[in-house]
Amino acid sequence: MEAVDLIVKKRSGQALNPEELEFLIKSYVAGTIPDYQVAAWAMAVFFQGMSPEETAALTTIMIESGSVVDLSGIPGPFVDKHSTGGVGDKTSLILAPLVASLGIRDPMMSGRALGHTGGTLDKLESIPGYRTSLSVNEFRDLIAHDGFAMTGQTADLVPADRLLYKLRDVTGTVESIPLITASILSKKKAEGTDALVLDVKYGSGAFMQKIEDAEALARSLVSTGTALKMKICALLTDMDEPLGAMTGNFLEMEEAFDCLEGNGPEDLMDISLELAARMLMLAQKAENPAVGREMCEKVLATGKPRELFLQNIDHQGGDARRFLEMLRTFRSPVSETIHAEKSGFIARIDAGKVGRAGIALGIGRAVLEDEVYAAAGVQFHRKRGNPVQAGDPVMTVWARDESGLRSVLPLLKSAVEYSDAEPPSRVMVLKAISGLNFA
Ligand code: URA
Repeated sequence: MEAVDLIVKKRSGQALNPEELEFLIKSYVAGTIPDYQVAAWAMAVFFQGMSPEETAALTTIMIESGSVVDLSGIPGPFVDKHSTGGVGDKTSLILAPLVASLGIRDPMMSGRALGHTGGTLDKLESIPGYRTSLSVNEFRDLIAHDGFAMTGQTADLVPADRLLYKLRDVTGTVESIPLITASILSKKKAEGTDALVLDVKYGSGAFMQKIEDAEALARSLVSTGTALKMKICALLTDMDEPLGAMTGNFLEMEEAFDCLEGNGPEDLMDISLELAARMLMLAQKAENPAVGREMCEKVLATGKPRELFLQNIDHQGGDARRFLEMLRTFRSPVSETIHAEKSGFIARIDAGKVGRAGIALGIGRAVLEDEVYAAAGVQFHRKRGNPVQAGDPVMTVWARDESGLRSVLPLLKSAVEYSDAEPPSRVMVLKAISGLNFA
């Protein structure tokens, strides 16, 4: 088989069969096909797409390029959640202890902030001592005993994705729905979960800004996951404004904890409960979202998820008592509050602009080598639909240093949009898309 023939076949719009895909991916990982041929194939996929069977075959071949976390011997059900990322998105931190309190095991492997979207690992590491590089055995033990663990991906998990993603990043081929689908699902399946709730976001702070693109991605993920025998469903959710009232690595740990204590902001609680309800449905513990939400509300009232969150901090190398002392006090000394420029209503706080400011503040990263700063962040005192008088506080910004603070203020001020009339209320969950294996 010759790589060039496969590139030409894809370029002409034909589907590659599993043997051809296996040859291409295996040879690439082995180093016997050069980057430029795989880049040409990825560009052909970008323009020609892939059939559903081809996407499923590519996903399986990518999983087989490395090792898979073996959770056998630990009783399930195992259910995870994956978000396509956004600004202020800390739902993973809430969901893992919440669903673990209801008997679900969540093998959660997360990523780091990149670009304007935050990363769960950076948030967790804002707690001194917290370890996010667990060995597979530590990961397994914590899942068995505590119901969940939070770690980064192991080095030998889906090596094909690591190579391909890097190549796509520099060849303009990231935004291909079948390649994104195979990338996300290969990693999730290799982590050991066989049931998955996807939070596919749209809006200015999302990976897919247009609703139609987000929906196409959600449908591809659900149909490919179903073909791979996963129980899977997706929610299309709003990321046009930051989620919750806080963005920033420690600030988001604090806000996740507030949610577990019953004091979370409405939009964040709403999305978290909707996602948790779907996780319960996939685990066959709730027959519909309303029942799932009610189960979550009841268990939150017992305080068990809060205790599991604190226990996890201790079990992964942090100190829960220290975390409690840091609440409301761990902030950069360099800060400024932005006040409303006019009276009326807040029409929108542009998540994309807040996310871009977050890169400069050290919440996110321009490139993976950048360092994040745990005590930086933004707190929103007002969001869409809230009435304001000129001069009211709209947001407080914490920065690493004075020059960093000055550099982001114009962008953050421009993120606030005003209206004279009250804007229509925000719809947090636009649509749910379910797979066939999920009755
Ligand atoms: N996230 C992933 O994990 N993979 C992609 O290809 C795009 C976003």
